[in-house]
Amino acid sequence: MLCEAMEAARPVLGTGKVADYIPALAAVDPNAFGMALATVDGDVHGVGDWEQPFSIQSISKLFTLALGLARGGDLWKRVGREPSGNPFNSLVQLETEQGIPRNPFINAGAIVVTDRLQTLTGDAFGAVRDFLRAESGNALLDADPAVAESEALHGHRNAALAHFIASYGNLDNPVETVLQHYYAHCSIAASCRDLSLAGRFLARHGLRADGSRLLSSSDAKRVNAVMLTCGTYDAAGEFAYRVGLPGKSGVGGGVLAVMPGRGALCAWSPALDQAGNSLAAVGALDAFVTATGWSVF
Ligand code: DON
Repeated sequence: MLCEAMEAARPVLGTGKVADYIPALAAVDPNAFGMALATVDGDVHGVGDWEQPFSIQSISKLFTLALGLARGGDLWKRVGREPSGNPFNSLVQLETEQGIPRNPFINAGAIVVTDRLQTLTGDAFGAVRDFLRAESGNALLDADPAVAESEALHGHRNAALAHFIASYGNLDNPVETVLQHYYAHCSIAASCRDLSLAGRFLARHGLRADGSRLLSSSDAKRVNAVMLTCGTYDAAGEFAYRVGLPGKSGVGGGVLAVMPGRGALCAWSPALDQAGNSLAAVGALDAFVTATGWSVF
């Protein structure tokens, strides 16, 4: 079924545009494609370039959110959970909404969640990396310092967002510290295999690979719900319509989707649509779900 999904995505492979606002991402092959399925009982299967690491970018926001919620506290007072209907790096809503970002997956919201995780752990990036290593079993998984540096050098928008949020008193740590950890977790390189395994706790209602609980089943449901409504930004409606699963995209071209009770799927191909979502990855997920009927609807 993964092979059929890959074939179905072939007509859009390489169409769209590789993200170049982070220059270190621009060199990647637009025709690369991989897809992996990790089932709740522990199997993992893949096709194409499914073991090739790529920049996970905003997919990391899903893990910062889960790790931030896992340690309790009232994160939802500092970040909303409504779709923004705006691009992922937009500044416009922050002023009228007094420094409370619309949701944890737009850049503004992820900056607040990273701040919370930094306060809770003292090392927000390390917490995300260690979680991904443990769930994927890939001890070599790590940040790509060249990508992190490139993000920082071209990070005027994120810096503006962070300073603006700080002006409303919604950051506990220095802006520079929060941005450093934010860029570092966005710059993590991981494969479809790694990410499907790491996302599996959301298909297992909050249970980690070792059987321990990261999230209550209610919180796992909530994270899945926010992924469905906000995980693909101003294209979340279209993604829900086509794929019908909670999903989180990144400008590296990856999309992680959760099939509660069944498993996690990760598709990757670097060329993006206008909203910053991979055309071939979304096409393959659409084809897979259409063929299997494994949507939440
Ligand atoms: O801050 C940024 O713009 C990137 N590190 C992450 C953006 C991203 O992946 C949005 N996803 N589609």
